Amino acid sequence: MTKNISIAIDGPAAAGKSTVAKIVAENFSYIYIDTGAMYRAITYKAQKANIDLEDEDVLFKLLENTKIELFPGDNGQLVFLDGENVTNEIRSSEVTNYVSIVAKHRLIRAEMVKRQQEFAVNGGVVMDGRDIGTFVLPDAEVKVFLLASVEERAQRRHHENIQKGYPSDLEKLKEEISTRDKIDSEREVAPLRKAKDAIEIDTTSLSIQDVVARIVDLAVERIATL
Ligand code: CDP
Ligand code: CDP
Repeated sequence: MTKNISIAIDGPAAAGKSTVAKIVAENFSYIYIDTGAMYRAITYKAQKANIDLEDEDVLFKLLENTKIELFPGDNGQLVFLDGENVTNEIRSSEVTNYVSIVAKHRLIRAEMVKRQQEFAVNGGVVMDGRDIGTFVLPDAEVKVFLLASVEERAQRRHHENIQKGYPSDLEKLKEEISTRDKIDSEREVAPLRKAKDAIEIDTTSLSIQDVVARIVDLAVERIATL
């Protein structure tokens, strides 16, 4: 029987992680876990409760009493917070622009990593985030670090917003993405880094299909060695 492996996909905002991770997971009939959604969900709950996002202890207590569930959906992963579907709400700019503040806290990260590792106990998982190859799944059989220029990443988000009929400002997106990348890369705990054994793919001029094909090839090659 073919062994079920773990595939870790990391990289900065809008590098294409969730789009390609979902397709790669479908390809192998693996589960797909978008870990960013978990940080977004707790940020959304904290904002609704008017909690100071710098207050690590209060946030941690909140997280301990919070159920975050992830389910496969037709258009990507569905996110349930304490039983309520918040898939769309957690993508708001209010959440996007503050999630990195919540994600820098040590206690929050430790709890999230624990929950994420539980999803992956049996292998057969494609997980995307910022610290998957470095901390969450350090033994993942395939690790990929996706990159793209900030201009390209802002363009992708801009295009996505326009397609969905949302208002969008390209320059503002560029600024927001750069700020988030800076906080994510400079935080003390599990900063955004390429794992030593991760394969870097610059997706700036690659299509989604190109990136998926590269990762599927890497996974097939790795499975063949097991
Ligand atoms: O999809 P996008 O790249 O905009 O972001 P995301 O993957 O939804 O992640 C939102 C934020 O959560 C990131 O900017 C990080 O601050 C945090 N995050 C993290 O710290 N570690 C992860 N494994 C995943 C996300
Ligand atoms: O998960 P992450 O924030 O890294 O990015 P994403 O939400 O998967 O992708 C951001 C946008 O870029 C989506 O609209 C994708 O369709 C698009 N994309 C692209 O145009 N070319 C790629 N090679 C990858 C993603």
